[in-house]
Amino acid sequence: MSRAFAPGRVNLIGEHTDYNDGLCLPFAIERGVTVSAERLTGRRYEVEARELGERDEFSAVDPPPADGWRAFPRGTVAELGAAGHELPPARVAIESDLPRGSGLSSSAALEVALALAVLGLAGEPEPDRVELAKLCSRVERDWAGADTGLLDQLAVLLGAERRALLLDCRTLATEQVPLELGGWTLATLDSGAGHSHAKSGYNERSAECRRACAELGIESLRDAAPDDAARLPAPLDRRVRHVLSENGRVVEAATALRAGELERLGPLLDASHASLRDDYGVSVPEVEEAVAACKRAGASGARIVGGGFGGSVLALFPPGARAPAEAEPVAPGPSARLLDS
Ligand code: GLA
Repeated sequence: MSRAFAPGRVNLIGEHTDYNDGLCLPFAIERGVTVSAERLTGRRYEVEARELGERDEFSAVDPPPADGWRAFPRGTVAELGAAGHELPPARVAIESDLPRGSGLSSSAALEVALALAVLGLAGEPEPDRVELAKLCSRVERDWAGADTGLLDQLAVLLGAERRALLLDCRTLATEQVPLELGGWTLATLDSGAGHSHAKSGYNERSAECRRACAELGIESLRDAAPDDAARLPAPLDRRVRHVLSENGRVVEAATALRAGELERLGPLLDASHASLRDDYGVSVPEVEEAVAACKRAGASGARIVGGGFGGSVLALFPPGARAPAEAEPVAPGPSARLLDS
């Protein structure tokens, strides 16, 4: 028997920059997904998703594709096999206290917890965490059809208590930046509009960024110059403007955190939201309402988190302000880990 836990993540700032070789500043949260695995005889995987009351069963060798949550366990087992890991057949139970589809990265948490649990069951030493993040991101792309970057998986695998993770997605260099909340509160508020990357405009946005690069003759938007956006036709000009301005806000946010100046974060969160709404076009009315509710409650800044088109909003409340009752406080917690094997 082997058990592993992987947290969800909140991205403080740096949205839709990861697949553009840019900068982001996520943190792992305390809630997440726990996966337990026990050996079975035969050659099959039996998977139970406890909260959903649903099951799946598939061959340990070359599992066929599937829709919905089943794509993630099947894809993780298949990708681990393709990377040369010899996995024993197993019965796997998934438990989660993360709301699914709310933009807190329940899918990355599931991939990572499942990978650590079955590798633990196989008695393998823990893999290199950056390599594991890449493997799990192949699951998103090739099995779940979402052409995402490495933000979620790296946050889940490299986050730390009382720290945000400054990520340079070009070099994969990381820096732990102090995120000491003191009397401040960070909270997420579910907009109630569920989101799914594959079905939403997420892939359309990443395709637009690739088109912008082709028009500018550069390899990634990290190489774009500040005045490049204005040379492009709409809406590519706005998409590029968001990516460039968001990278700048990540640098400013990291500087503020290093100096312990949380009061400088709020305006950056607001500016990020405006850019994601107006330039990147990933907000929806329910999200706007959730942002407005946080601002009415006294948030010093609030913005959409994750892929967008629904999901959660992140807000920062100064000491003394009270978040809306339905908001969930979040704080940086430790990264994914094997609990026992
Ligand atoms: C989703 C993706 C990430 C990242 C964000 C947007 O969470 O999984 O890779 O692109 O959207 O910043």
